[in-house]
Amino acid sequence: MGKDLDFRLSKKLDHIAFIMDGNGRWANLRGLPRHLGHKKACEIITSIFKACHEQGIKVVSLYAFSTENWNRPQDEIEHLMDYLEEYFHREENELSAMDAKVVFSGDLSRLRKSTFDICVEALTKSKDRKGPIMNICLNYGGRDEIVRTTKRLIKEVQEGKLQAEDIDENVFMSHLDAPLPSVDLMIRTSGEQRISNFLLYELAYAEFIFTPVYWPDFDKKELIRCLKLYEGRNRRFGGLKNG
Ligand code: IPE
Ligand code: IPE
Ligand code: MG
Repeated sequence: MGKDLDFRLSKKLDHIAFIMDGNGRWANLRGLPRHLGHKKACEIITSIFKACHEQGIKVVSLYAFSTENWNRPQDEIEHLMDYLEEYFHREENELSAMDAKVVFSGDLSRLRKSTFDICVEALTKSKDRKGPIMNICLNYGGRDEIVRTTKRLIKEVQEGKLQAEDIDENVFMSHLDAPLPSVDLMIRTSGEQRISNFLLYELAYAEFIFTPVYWPDFDKKELIRCLKLYEGRNRRFGGLKNG
């Protein structure tokens, strides 16, 4: 185990993205209400974020709530938002000590006011920080982000700030909710093997790893197991080169 934890990633990995799934099943298995799975899920976020930072990963995206998750029972949604709010209150010192910058992807305008305010506070407080970036995907849908980005571009063209013919893949990328590098590795916990509307544009050439571990049980050891798998992947980007 000590040896495992000594692992040091050598392949380029600027942006890792997690679909933090399996909270409900983790709780069910223990005879607990589903929302306690979300509580535990929030409690491990900073340690995973730190472990990624230790491996030289600059950006960590975390799928916290999808545009489809509004289909959940209202009390589960309220609990989830409570735990997210608590997360920022509790972890602000830790994030500040890491010089971590917090950004959001997703349409925050639909969130309840207390959650919206805390997100804006986390964003504002950390905006000049130079350390690792935590991108929380909240009320996030990949299709929704692409549609809203298209509208932003149309507005800039209408206002004369951008020439329509100058829009290319990079310009589009830079107008997404949080301008970040492409995702290199996407990890989904809980055994489900689908994207569930996550970072559709940003994942174009990401490596995918699906682990059966439920997110509340995900730890540094499992992260390193996934990074070792990533290390062994052959990223060709349509070419022939190994690497
Ligand atoms: C992921 O865990 C968290 C959110 C979707 C908000 P789930 O709540 O989906 O857990 P399962 O998939 O039901 O076990
Ligand atoms: C995806 O998980 C969303 C988050 C982890 C926030 P879901 O549990 O909502 O996805 P589906 O419904 O299984 O596709
Ligand atoms: Mg799920």
